[in-house]
Amino acid sequence: MECGGLMLILGIESSCDETAAAVVENGRKIVSSVVATQIEKHKIFGGVVPEIASRMHTEAICAVTKQALSDANCKMSDIDAIAVTYAPGLIGALLVGVNYAKGLSLSSGVPLVPVHHLRSHIAANYLSYENLKPPFLCLVVSGGNTLITEVKDYTDFKILGRTRDDAAGEALDKAARTLGLDYPGGVNLDKIAKNGNSDSYKFPRPHVDGSPLDFSFSGLKTAVMNLVNNSAQKGDIIDVPVVCATVRQRVCDVLIEKTMSAAEKYGYKTVAVAGGVSANSELRLRMANECEKRGIKLYYPKLCYCGDNAAMVGVQAYYEFLSGNIGNSSLNAAATMPIDYR
Ligand code: KG4
Repeated sequence: MECGGLMLILGIESSCDETAAAVVENGRKIVSSVVATQIEKHKIFGGVVPEIASRMHTEAICAVTKQALSDANCKMSDIDAIAVTYAPGLIGALLVGVNYAKGLSLSSGVPLVPVHHLRSHIAANYLSYENLKPPFLCLVVSGGNTLITEVKDYTDFKILGRTRDDAAGEALDKAARTLGLDYPGGVNLDKIAKNGNSDSYKFPRPHVDGSPLDFSFSGLKTAVMNLVNNSAQKGDIIDVPVVCATVRQRVCDVLIEKTMSAAEKYGYKTVAVAGGVSANSELRLRMANECEKRGIKLYYPKLCYCGDNAAMVGVQAYYEFLSGNIGNSSLNAAATMPIDYR
């Protein structure tokens, strides 16, 4: 799949709590990237409040897009396609981006490209590594999703394992919240875990019977809640850094073990990690060690592209566009959508 000339894509992202826009050249080069985060607002509530997220996207989306175009020294007439995250995510938040992109497409005549949020998280790796091309195996770990997928081609995916309940990021966020840490919990839990060792608490390493590549993180979340509640009743003091280190270790154990067994079973020597939790320091370090032992080449997005951004939307959109995935004026958002949809 190669495109003749230069192609500029305007990417738009509003699936959760970041309003973002970016201009990307030929699917690999960032010309501009603007991210307006809502973290400070949601921190007060200990997590993302969907209606507030939608309202804040509505307030920010015009300015963020204008900024991305002006940073790229572009006008709408220079843009060849408008890419937008349409699924999965918070439905009200997604609708803001989808409607905005549709209006922009209608008024400018520029084609619209719908982009799956998790596909774009995987594409964040193409931004960081010019030579990375499918096929490879990918562990996708974000706030709302955890799965292992084959990336057979840029727009061809086959899921090998997925979470049966909570995503890894959600379990980390909930554990952090139970321990009284600020939102976003996974990030703070990772920082505090550096001050604790991970062997003092008996938390599970959850497995799913009969489905060795599937995940289940709700038991781990419950174990932390039970520990905190029981300790409060007995008046015991909890060693927060040790709990953080133990939770982080258990999550990493399961993510790494299943990714390595999928790579072995399906014969992959190239593995990527994607999504917000790919910023986790223990996951990055231990996954690198395990891959090195097995002669597997490992890819991670740069830290600045692990979280939600629009540059990754512009990257994935390039390949979606080349494979003929063009949206029309009836494009809608969807809260859930499998990555391997056809
Ligand atoms: O991919 P993402 O930005 O949003 C979704 O699309 O879901 O992922 C957000 C998730 C949150 O659960 C956040 O706590 C987690 O990624 N996260 C981390 C770290 N940085 C972000 N989890 C563990 N360690 C980190 N360093």
